Formats: sequence, structure tokens, C-alpha cells
Amino acid sequence: MIHEGKVAIVTGSVQGIGLATAQRLCAEGASVVTNDIQPDLGKQAAESIRNSGGNVVYINGDISDPAIPRAIVDTALNNFDGIDYVVNNAAPPRPPATIDEVDNVGWERQFQVMILGMSMLTQYSVPEMRKRGGGSIVNLSSIHGLAAARDRLIYDTLKHGVIGFTRSTAIALGPDNIRVNALCPGIIIGERMQPILDDNPKLRDLWGSMYPLKRPGRPDEMAGVINFLLSDDASYVTGTTIVADGGGMAQLQENVGWDVHDTITNPDGSQTPMLEAIMKKSFDPSADEST
Ligand SMILES: NC(=O)c1ccc[n+]([C@@H]2O[C@H](COP(=O)([O-])OP(=O)(O)OC[C@H]3O[C@@H](n4cnc5c(N)ncnc54)[C@H](O)[C@@H]3O)[C@@H](O)[C@H]2O)c1
Repeated sequence: MIHEGKVAIVTGSVQGIGLATAQRLCAEGASVVTNDIQPDLGKQAAESIRNSGGNVVYINGDISDPAIPRAIVDTALNNFDGIDYVVNNAAPPRPPATIDEVDNVGWERQFQVMILGMSMLTQYSVPEMRKRGGGSIVNLSSIHGLAAARDRLIYDTLKHGVIGFTRSTAIALGPDNIRVNALCPGIIIGERMQPILDDNPKLRDLWGSMYPLKRPGRPDEMAGVINFLLSDDASYVTGTTIVADGGGMAQLQENVGWDVHDTITNPDGSQTPMLEAIMKKSFDPSADEST
């Protein structure tokens, strides 16, 4: 068990990526403090982890309230014997907003959780990591931290900010042997996204066709990357960003458009993506003619 004797904090950890991360770290031997703003789910999740042999304590509260990051750190110190890892994962629901729609309340609320909460928890945890001779922090950014969507102004801006925060703190904390990295997930189907897919089966087809791996991702797949980044296997990795998106960011936009929206009908009635057909024909003029 690679995290035996280690103590981790995971925010936003009653569902989705946060829950999968808490489960994985416990399974690898870490003691984990979980935190969220959903008390019933928080207790249930902690109980279920304990029933599987994990060592976990749940603390309820909004990480944008300065008292809560302090209380999370105190919970780790009172229940376990220090802090080795922090996973800044919590994020509020992200309502669509363009520049014509945003208001200051929206900006402030999202900033307080996604940036200020992350900063406070990191700041209060670092002295404890220093006492242990080092530590590792993973901040959840997104593919929205690398590129933008038309109507996600606040989310896109702040997820870009998470990467800036990660780089800056990695530089400052490197001499203390504290590593800081960011994870940029693509579309990951957890409890929040599942009902959206259930109501819109076409969306699953669309997402399935867009990504080279031909499917959206799962929370446990993100937990695997976070587990690696926290572990000694990543001992020379800091200040970086890992993209885990089924290959989506690796491909040109025009290819996605072709793949998703345009197909041609073959003589036998089957469909071939437009791009594939064009490329095939470009390199092999004798290729089967299609209508
Ligand atoms: N799921 C995806 O497709 C995806 C893609 C890219 C990035 N991400 C990022 O990964 C992280 C986890 O995503 P997810 O889809 O698993 O999220 P989710 O919405 O399923 O879970 C987030 C959790 O954070 C909690 N939370 C919200 N505000 C909080 C606060 N102020 N204090 C404490 N807890 C709070 C929520 O109650 C929830 O349980 C987020 O930072 C998200 O932006 C997710």
C-alpha cells in the first residue's frame, strides 16, 4: 500500500472525482479527511469507506469560509498525526454565463470557492507538510483551464487561474519538497453528470464520437491520476498540468467538427466520417468511391 502512514485531505469528496479519490487513497493505505457541504452524503460516504477498511473522517463546511479550511487542518491534526497530501477538488455548480450575462455575485461566489478556498487550505496545510519534510498537492483544473467555451466565462477564467496558482505555488514550495500539480479532466461522468446524460442520450453519442477514446471518462480514472501525482512515483513532477481527457485536447477542432457533424454514405449504405473519407481518398485515389 503506497500511502501507508500518509494523511490526505480531499475537498468536495462525497461524490464524483472527490469521492473516488478519497476511496482510492484509503485503499492505498492513507488516512483521509473528507469535506463537503452535503452533510448526509458526507456521513454516508465516510461510513461506506470505513466499512471497506478505510481510515476516514468527514468534516462538513464550505471551504470558502475561512473557518472551514482551518477546521479541516485541525481535523487532520487531531485525528491523525499531520498532513502529507491535499487535493483541492471542490467546485460549485457552474451556471452558464457569457460576458453579457455575468454579474459580480456570480464572479465572487465562484472565485471564493474555486480560488480562495483552494488558497486558504493550501496555505494552512503547508506548515504541517514542512514539519514532515515535504508533501504533495493536486489542484483540479479542467480542459476549461486550457481552452474556453462560449458560455462558461467564469468557470473558464477560474480554471485557467487554478493552473497559474499551481505553477506559482510549485515554484515557491519546491525548496520545501512540496510538489504542486494540476489535473485537467475532460468530460467525466459522476453523480452530477449522470442525470444529464440519462435525460439526453444523444449527448452520450456526441461525447462518444468526439474523443479519440470514444467515451467520456470515469471518476475512478481521475482518482488514478491523482493517486500517481501524490505518490513517490511522481517525486520529480511539480508545477505541471496533466490532461486526462480521452485525447480530446490532442486533436484539431476541425477534425472534431468533421467527425461529429459530417458523414458520407457508402455504396453499401454504411456511414464513414467525412474526414476519414477525404483523407483516404487523398492518399489513395483508387479508394472506393462513395456517394
Ligand atoms: N466532471 C467533469 O467532467 C469535470 C471536468 C473537468 C474538471 N472537473 C473538476 O473536477 C472537480 C470535481 O468534479 P466533479 O464533477 O466530480 O464535481 P461534483 O460537482 O460531482 O462534486 C463537487 C463536490 O464539491 C462540493 N462542493 C461544492 N462547493 C463546495 C464548497 N464551497 N465547499 C466544499 N465542498 C463543496 C459539492 O457538494 C460536490 O460534492 C471540480 O473541481 C471540477 O471543476 C470536473
